[in-house]
Amino acid sequence: MSNLIGADDAARQDPLSQLKWLVEVGADEAIGETPVNRFQVRPPAPAEQPARPAPAPDAPAPRINARSGGDLVKNAVGLAQECQTLEDLREALNQFEGCGLKQTAHSTVFSDGNPAADLMLIGEAPGRDEDREGLPFVGRSGQLLDLMMAAIGRERGAQDPKASIYIANILPWRPPGNRNPSLEEISLCLPFLKRHIEIAQPKVLLALGGTSAKHLLETPTGIMKLRGRWAKVSTSAGEIDCMPTFHPAYLLRQPGQKKYAWADLLKVEAKLRDR
Ligand code: URA
Repeated sequence: MSNLIGADDAARQDPLSQLKWLVEVGADEAIGETPVNRFQVRPPAPAEQPARPAPAPDAPAPRINARSGGDLVKNAVGLAQECQTLEDLREALNQFEGCGLKQTAHSTVFSDGNPAADLMLIGEAPGRDEDREGLPFVGRSGQLLDLMMAAIGRERGAQDPKASIYIANILPWRPPGNRNPSLEEISLCLPFLKRHIEIAQPKVLLALGGTSAKHLLETPTGIMKLRGRWAKVSTSAGEIDCMPTFHPAYLLRQPGQKKYAWADLLKVEAKLRDR
């Protein structure tokens, strides 16, 4: 990494050197139109606007008809429910301007794989690679996910519904800098995902990671307790069996946990074998 500390003033003033330095320290994309001075001391919030307490880490996930976000959530539910096909739903997301994440994302990451697959995987949110390509799970965790699926005889591109998978995320837009999405952002996106599941009608859902499992199952319980146990996701078309398991990104960091994910996948394979 080039070191601007100690560089002469001319180099510090040079916009190209500044840009190069930003890229080298990892700030590789612009997320706003105007610069923000984050070192500026802000005046304290006025007494009548108390700062909102941070949600507890295990706070209950919002229900699908969450009241938070009020009209915007109702609007999202209404828009999603009107959709009869996956193409309608893709178009509805393209039209929906209620969620701020869309403004900073490059793409709406809708889905990948075979929509007729009997197994639907639900991840959390697109990362940088997915945002660039417009497809879910194309980065490093996607490569591991593909290997995990191959181990149970499945491939995204397969034509046979019993040999393929269909993939979507809780959020179709990348949170800037991969920050954690807020509950409001999730509440605004969940109606579209629920409708996505209703239209695709998979036989089994695989929830990848804690965020996906919590919000699909509407529970505050963490992934350590949820994984490996069958649960039900309720949709307007009935209940769907859902297996929560570890997120591939977690497995990349904790390879020793892969044996648990493997056990979960075997349960999924067994359940789908005879259906
Ligand atoms: N992680 C996710 O949860 N989803 C993606 O699409 C990529 C990474």
